Amino acid sequence: MDTPPLYRKGESLQSLVGRSPNRLRELGGARSRLDALEVKIASLGLPSTMLGVLNRALSDLKVSQGERSPSTFFLRPHVFEEIERLDDKDLPRYLYHRYRYDVFPTTKELDGYPPCVQIEPTSICNFRCVFCFQTDPLLTLRKHGHAGQMSLELFKAIVDQIEGHVEFVTMASRGEPLLTKNIEQMLAYASGKFLGLKMNTNATFLDEKKAHAILQAELNTLVFSADAADAETYAQLRINGDFDKVMANIKRFKQIKERDYPNSRLITRVSGVAFDRERQDHQAIEAFWGEYVDQVAFVDYNPWENAYSNTPNGIDEACSDLWRRCFVWWDGKMNPCDVDYRSFLCPGNVEDEPLSEIWTGKGYATLRKNHLEVQRQSLTPCQGCVSV
Ligand SMILES: C[S@@+](CC[C@H](N)C(=O)[O-])C[C@H]1O[C@@H](n2cnc3c(N)ncnc32)[C@H](O)[C@@H]1O
Ligand code: SF4
Repeated sequence: MDTPPLYRKGESLQSLVGRSPNRLRELGGARSRLDALEVKIASLGLPSTMLGVLNRALSDLKVSQGERSPSTFFLRPHVFEEIERLDDKDLPRYLYHRYRYDVFPTTKELDGYPPCVQIEPTSICNFRCVFCFQTDPLLTLRKHGHAGQMSLELFKAIVDQIEGHVEFVTMASRGEPLLTKNIEQMLAYASGKFLGLKMNTNATFLDEKKAHAILQAELNTLVFSADAADAETYAQLRINGDFDKVMANIKRFKQIKERDYPNSRLITRVSGVAFDRERQDHQAIEAFWGEYVDQVAFVDYNPWENAYSNTPNGIDEACSDLWRRCFVWWDGKMNPCDVDYRSFLCPGNVEDEPLSEIWTGKGYATLRKNHLEVQRQSLTPCQGCVSV
């Protein structure tokens, strides 16, 4: 059997265009700050585990592009931009966690916490994008038990558990976060606790109040999922979406950010799923949205909306997400990935056990063992999934 093309999660950001006017100067700035860090690193009194990882990171950064192996650490363009916005005091912590995020999934290293946690404020969505699992009634119909919103108490408990251990936290997974009843309180609670706090949104409910809540929460990145630069294409891909409304909301967000938060370090990004090259003119999308946000990016399309009906595909490479991130659904279920949006693989619930114990516990260990021992074809939906 011919195996289908692989979806390399670590490289799924297909393209990214920034509009920073002094980009070259900025990239030079990040490099010189990393050089300065190397000089003083031994004198910072860092814990030995952290120091070991940082030394590996700084040493990898000297490897030229042609000599890199799949596990060599290097800085992608969006990482340079993130570094630019950090205070010097946060640079070692950021680099340590960036290395864990980028390299641990390739070397299959584990410590007590996942490099990234995606917390799902809600699994409910007002859209039915054609490429999304929200098109599957087995996810969306209430009677199947997957639809709901996270309580503020559970959100706070998860944040308390991971603060100081995890820096990359995304407040989004299966649904639309901005339709969550308590989203403003959630944002306020997470504020200032993570170096890489991110949210993806379809921007339908991005009113003035939510714009202020986001800007006050010190998010690192806010992703507007838009996929198109014209109302007709948008309507074909983002079912139930209103292009004019979303555009007006994103425009107003930019005005509020510039007017009321001139020192905000938030990076705004319009993102598109590279689903249909005929209908999505990438250059036109970059030019159109580049007016309103800092970055325009495309991610590879992952055929996850058919995850459970895809036939076994013969792929035997281990999925890197088992070492990169975990998802916590609105009801506390912890899941290894969002391709498994109906939670067949769930190794535990954070209402019953701490997140760190689930990450390092038996259920996860069995999943990783199956993947490492070329047994992923025995698992559903891993057998029909193309992510590695
Ligand atoms: C599932 S959505 C949830 C958050 C929010 N509703 C939104 O659309 O941004 C999270 C991200 O996944 C992207 N996405 C959806 N379907 C995808 C697919 N089949 N392959 C890759 N990315 C996809 C969306 O465009 C969005 O940026
Ligand atoms: S991509 Fe986001 S907005 Fe579109 S259906 Fe999926 S969850 Fe909803």
